[in-house]
Amino acid sequence: MRSKVLRPTLKPQSCPTPLPQSFINVMERADANPICKLITEMQFHWAPPETSSDPLYIKHSISKVHVELLGPNGLVKSDRVRLGLYGMKPDSEYGIRTHAAEEIYIMLAGDVDWKRRDAPYAIHLPGERSYHPSMMPHASRTHEVAFLSVYAWYGDLSTDNYVYEGIPSNK
Ligand SMILES: [Fe+2]
Repeated sequence: MRSKVLRPTLKPQSCPTPLPQSFINVMERADANPICKLITEMQFHWAPPETSSDPLYIKHSISKVHVELLGPNGLVKSDRVRLGLYGMKPDSEYGIRTHAAEEIYIMLAGDVDWKRRDAPYAIHLPGERSYHPSMMPHASRTHEVAFLSVYAWYGDLSTDNYVYEGIPSNK
C-alpha cells in the first residue's frame, strides 16, 4: 500500500503577500534545499521584519522578506523561541546589528555574504550556517541573486536591546 504524502495544514495568512520573483529564481535552482518547493506553495505574508522603529532600520529593511512561523509574533505562538524564514533581494545590504538573543541562520537558497564581528564578509551557500552569539555584531549583503534562509532566535527573545548601526565601514 502506498503511503500518503502529508502536507502541512497551516492556514494561509489573512492577507498573503507573494514572494518576489527574485526569490523564486534561486529557490528553483538545483542547489536549493528541497523544502523550498513547499515554501513556494505556502501563502505567507512576506514582508520586512518590524524588529525596530529606528528610521535607518526601516529604510534598510525594504529589501528583506520575513515570516515568523513560531514565536511571540508567530503564526504559532511561543515565548521560548523565534523560528522563521528570512531573505534578502539581490544587490542589497543590511548592516551591523546586535541583539540579546542567540541566533542561527541556515541558508536554503541563493547566495549571501555574512559578516561576523570584525571579520570580513564571507559567502554562504545553501546548507551553510551563520551563528551569532548574544550581542555579537553581524551584517549581511547580497549581490546578483537573492537568498532565503531559516533562522532561529533563542535565549532572550526581547527586541528591547536590538541596535542597528548601519552599513559597516570595514568590509
Ligand atoms: Fe541577527
